[in-house]
Amino acid sequence: MGNTFGKAFSITTWGESHGPAIGVVIDGCPPGLELTETDIQLELDRRRPGQSEISTPRQEEDRVEILSGVFEGKTTGTPIAMQVRNKDADSSKYDIIKNMPRPGHADYTYQMKYGIRDHRGGGRSSARETIGRVAGGAVAKKILERHGIEILAHVVELGGIKASPVQVDEIKANVESNPVRCADPEAAKTMLERVKQAREDKDSIGGIVEILALGVPPGLGEPVFDKLDCDLAGALMGIGAVKGVEIGSGFASAAMTGSQMNDPFEMRNGKVVCSTNNAGGILGGISNGEIIVCRIAVKPTPSIARSQKTVDMSDLSETNITIEGRHDPTIPPRIVPVAEAMTALVLADHLIRAQSYTK
Ligand SMILES: Cc1cc2nc3c(=O)[nH]c(=O)nc-3n(C[C@H](O)[C@H](O)[C@H](O)COP(=O)(O)O)c2cc1C
Repeated sequence: MGNTFGKAFSITTWGESHGPAIGVVIDGCPPGLELTETDIQLELDRRRPGQSEISTPRQEEDRVEILSGVFEGKTTGTPIAMQVRNKDADSSKYDIIKNMPRPGHADYTYQMKYGIRDHRGGGRSSARETIGRVAGGAVAKKILERHGIEILAHVVELGGIKASPVQVDEIKANVESNPVRCADPEAAKTMLERVKQAREDKDSIGGIVEILALGVPPGLGEPVFDKLDCDLAGALMGIGAVKGVEIGSGFASAAMTGSQMNDPFEMRNGKVVCSTNNAGGILGGISNGEIIVCRIAVKPTPSIARSQKTVDMSDLSETNITIEGRHDPTIPPRIVPVAEAMTALVLADHLIRAQSYTK
């Protein structure tokens, strides 16, 4: 039913925005991995709204509880269940969307598919569902860490404002130092003003987030239907508000020639490496040892405080809707930890699958 992701290392997320709790069940985690609630909490705190002047002022505490699969600080190899209790939920603000679907949101399609939906806080289509992904991703990151693999994401474009290209060290140093999570401090300032303007205009803006996976060895990915790029694209596209995914040179590669696009091989310190990385670290669906580079296009937040046309589904009359609730004026800064989590889940899954080969 689409609530489970991954094959050898999988997560099943459950829960709705204003239900009693929301969470995840992780299956396939190797035994003996040191894991505490603090490991998970650190990532959930990065995901949580209400942390900066440009995220929704909802104050969600989001304290994680590990319910199973961990004994004396180590994973046991059995399913790990985790939950976060839902608090600070003012459902009355959502009465308006019970019968009137928000343009750009999932209200209409959920209603048409299931004939019933928990409209409070957006129900299952709410960004609170990403709590389960981020909690699962935190475990995946710990597995990857043991193999020297690190995932970083940063905002490279917001409301049409582009950041200058940055080095990995600059991403590490700068990304958490400004509310837009952009590693170029100058562009970050302009982006911040653009977000404030959008909010004043009762509108929202979108942007682009880049995700890098460092230290991935050659050989991850299962051709032909579970190619690494295929799974990464699915994982990232499965995040709400993502409307495009590209790997390496992505859409720009369509305008390149073969001699421009191909990454020549060379020897460096006794290792085969590529002198460029237009492939984004993946060839034939298999990692080639270079940095894996993905970018996602994130649309503007659908819930805006402007009057928009919609239909009252109770009598099919045309009407207007203005969303008064507390919403993010822009999603890319908040999507950064979610995109890292989904990338980590894919890589942990493929790492574990790759270990089943005997060469
Ligand atoms: C981290 C994150 C935060 C989001 N915040 C909001 C929000 O405050 N208001 C809103 O209307 N949509 C928000 N969204 C987007 C909706 O969840 C998404 O647009 C909706 O589920 C419809 O899915 P689609 O855009 O993929 O078609 C957020 C998404 C993510 C991933």
